[in-house]
Amino acid sequence: MQALAQALTRQHEKMLKSLDESLRPFARIRDKKAPAPSDAQAVAQPLLGWMQRVFLPHLVEEEDLFRPALQSSEEGGQVLADVVAQHDRLRKLVNQSREEIHLLLRQASIREAWWDTVDLCAVWAFRRAFSEHIEHERQEVLPKAIALQMRRQE
Ligand SMILES: [Fe+2]
Ligand SMILES: [Fe+2]
Repeated sequence: MQALAQALTRQHEKMLKSLDESLRPFARIRDKKAPAPSDAQAVAQPLLGWMQRVFLPHLVEEEDLFRPALQSSEEGGQVLADVVAQHDRLRKLVNQSREEIHLLLRQASIREAWWDTVDLCAVWAFRRAFSEHIEHERQEVLPKAIALQMRRQE
């Protein structure tokens, strides 16, 4: 479990880095460091792809990873329930982010005003919630999973 925890922490760092790379064009436009792009699809695609191919499968893999160590005790069961609840909230934020972006891609009429503010509430809320979540896993969930796993092996 300890080796898995280290691998997971490294994976989280990589994920956060790749998320930030796909968000960078949005942030640059928002901060007026880049002009509004002529091709919104090209800007949005890396983020949509990351959510679909990297992020959503990760949640399922992680739940499968934590379940054996956590589900066999009441204390662990509560930790697992919290993780799953946080994952569900992140899934909701992903869906809201996708809706926001799809609206942007489809509705040329709002796009111009939108680029002026880059008011992607759900996207930025997702970014915040994701980094808080991986911090919660690093500080609370992984140490607890390791401790419970060791207790089971005694
Ligand atoms: Fe997680
Ligand atoms: Fe994770």
